[in-house]
Amino acid sequence: MVDKLAGVSRRKVLGAMVAGAAYGLPSLVSAQTERRDLPVPPKTASAQALARDEGFWKEIAGYYDRTQGIVNLEHGYWGKMAHPVQNAFIDATRMVNAQNSFYARKDYSDDARLSVHRVAQALGVHDDEIVITRNASEAIHNLIRQYKGLTPKDAVLYADLDYPSFKDTMVWLKGAYGVNTVEVTLPQRATQAEILGRYLDAFDANPNLKLMLITHVSNQHGLVVPVSDIAAEAKSRGIDVICDSAQSWGLLDYKISDLNVDWAGFNLHKWIGSPIGVGALYMKRGTLAKVAPYPGESDPENSRASTRVHMATSNFASIITIPNAIDFHEAIGAANKEARLRHLRQLWTNEAEAMGHIELLGGLDEESWTGMGSFRLQAKNTVADARDLQQRLENDFGIFTVIRVGLASGSCVRITPQVFTSENEISMLIDAMKKLS
Ligand SMILES: Cc1ncc(COP(=O)(O)O)c(C=O)c1O
Repeated sequence: MVDKLAGVSRRKVLGAMVAGAAYGLPSLVSAQTERRDLPVPPKTASAQALARDEGFWKEIAGYYDRTQGIVNLEHGYWGKMAHPVQNAFIDATRMVNAQNSFYARKDYSDDARLSVHRVAQALGVHDDEIVITRNASEAIHNLIRQYKGLTPKDAVLYADLDYPSFKDTMVWLKGAYGVNTVEVTLPQRATQAEILGRYLDAFDANPNLKLMLITHVSNQHGLVVPVSDIAAEAKSRGIDVICDSAQSWGLLDYKISDLNVDWAGFNLHKWIGSPIGVGALYMKRGTLAKVAPYPGESDPENSRASTRVHMATSNFASIITIPNAIDFHEAIGAANKEARLRHLRQLWTNEAEAMGHIELLGGLDEESWTGMGSFRLQAKNTVADARDLQQRLENDFGIFTVIRVGLASGSCVRITPQVFTSENEISMLIDAMKKLS
């Protein structure tokens, strides 16, 4: 957070603070997390070697409070703040609450600008291409709903592995504009080449496609979609692309330029580890004309991405804690995080490959996998089957997971470790899976 002491309101805050802690005001929150509060990975180790270093990841686990009473392998919902981030958030919450409108009306916009800057830097884009949102849903819903110029002659495309609410919003376009909807269905397990092939087939079969939704990492089974290749082909056919990167940023190590898309939605409260209530919208410079401002907002030059969202009163403390979350994320190292999470997933999927009673879902080649994966019992793909499996894991083995519903191949249970998950906890999952036969 930026220095709260420039300007009148900041001087007054300082005055109150210097006068004593009697007012219960927090200490000033700093823009950057103190170096000594951040983890320091050994410089000599490659990400792959570090991924297997239980000692290092045990140190990382020490930065987090643990879920009590269960082995929690459902970390795809939202991330968890590490202690330095949580402390910054608590300080920020106390400061915002104490200073109230005096802070929000005078100094908040500078702090929010710094947060935008840190997001833009981390994603490798310009500050004016990033808008902070409350979550990825806000970013993606606005892109879909505010996309201009659809007519009944057009078609829009999504896939079975897309986020359910976004599929529904794509279908909503049919009622709103009379467009046709096209759903790509992917095999239960797929390689990058097969996924690309399915999208290309759909492009060939539907020459009137105008807009598509694409998901970088599916919430269903962590499958990585080759966004860059698909987007290049879509653009060459005049199809506009909205990319859902809600689950991928921080789970994978990449920059926006790797995706080759003009519009995307992100979450910081998943794998970047910010407080809940922070997402981001990316809109590339020069591409705003096709997406209307939020109703009531005005942007005659189509140059202000911020007009595509209306944030109103939001969680100021969450937003000004973004720099601290990015500090912690970058201190571990994005490549180190990705490698560790892949390693943990590989431990159980390698064993599961040999279990005749288990069906794995997701990637067939390593490029198509992330740290997140899903499985079901052989031929048990109904919602009731998945619910039963989730309950058995929870009640009989003390392992918490979540069911996923929406894939063409049926329902499943998703396994999502975090950077604080140990190999030992994955061994408990493997033992449970063996006993599920
Ligand atoms: C792929 C994907 N898209 C979108 C979302 C929605 O995220 P949020 O609820 O934070 O908007 C999720 C959440 O799990 C997701 O996994």
